[in-house]
Amino acid sequence: MSVFLELLSLYEDNGITVQTSLSPGHFPGFGSQDIPFTYMFRDGQQLCEGGGIAFAEIAFLEHLFSAFQPERIFVVGNAFGWSTLALAIMNPSARVVAIDSCPTETEEQGIAFANEMGARLGRDVRAAKGKSPEDVPSIIAREMGGPVDFALIDGWHTNEAQRADFEACKAVADGRCVYVFHDVINLLLADGFAAIARDNPQLASTLLFRTPSGMAISYPPALEAEIGPIARAFTETDERVRALWEEGRARRGEAT
Ligand SMILES: C[S@@+](CC[C@H](N)C(=O)[O-])C[C@H]1O[C@@H](n2cnc3c(N)ncnc32)[C@H](O)[C@@H]1O
Repeated sequence: MSVFLELLSLYEDNGITVQTSLSPGHFPGFGSQDIPFTYMFRDGQQLCEGGGIAFAEIAFLEHLFSAFQPERIFVVGNAFGWSTLALAIMNPSARVVAIDSCPTETEEQGIAFANEMGARLGRDVRAAKGKSPEDVPSIIAREMGGPVDFALIDGWHTNEAQRADFEACKAVADGRCVYVFHDVINLLLADGFAAIARDNPQLASTLLFRTPSGMAISYPPALEAEIGPIARAFTETDERVRALWEEGRARRGEAT
């Protein structure tokens, strides 16, 4: 079974409806900051505010893990477990530790759901209530059993929080860690990501324009042979990005 079908069935078998990966062009009134992502509903009620990763982002991660197999995965932002469980399905021998600050009881249910479904899948999933950055060192020391080698940063979406989450992950990672950031372009965090990239020249960093949320990745150049082709396949050439920005300004009637 594909990762997407297996993931979907975990929710549907529990009476949860999944809404995912829709186009704003099909649903007037919705925009690029919400409808492309993943939301869960039970009895018509939305379960978590935070949108999960989209189908194409699962495909990106599948490509990534075909080239590089992490053993200790850390997720900042569990919500209702969607990306936590996707990562666990894709990496059967990895330990997956996920945290959420749990602003409501629903995210606490999301922690329990991720742990229960992880166990059902036979994966080593350890979701816990905790806030980044302050709780990261103690949770990693307690749960991870070694340095983080893959981090998904998908918590609070401000440049400051993204930076704090990255620094917290870096402090518990080793030099081989790969960092993937969700929602960077759509949630207007590209300037913050550029600053992280500038301040961390030991990592190769790029935006991933071909992912619906505008993800970003930072990885050690030692993994260039494995990860470089995948990062390039999920971004867009600088030439096309510049040309599209320019054409977009012209279409909006702005001076170029
Ligand atoms: C966009 S959602 C995560 C979606 C999830 N990764 C998925 O794919 O389903 C963001 C989550 O981060 C949590 N969060 C926000 N700030 C946080 C922080 N400082 N530490 C831990 N979790 C946080 C929120 O409660 C929310 O559930």
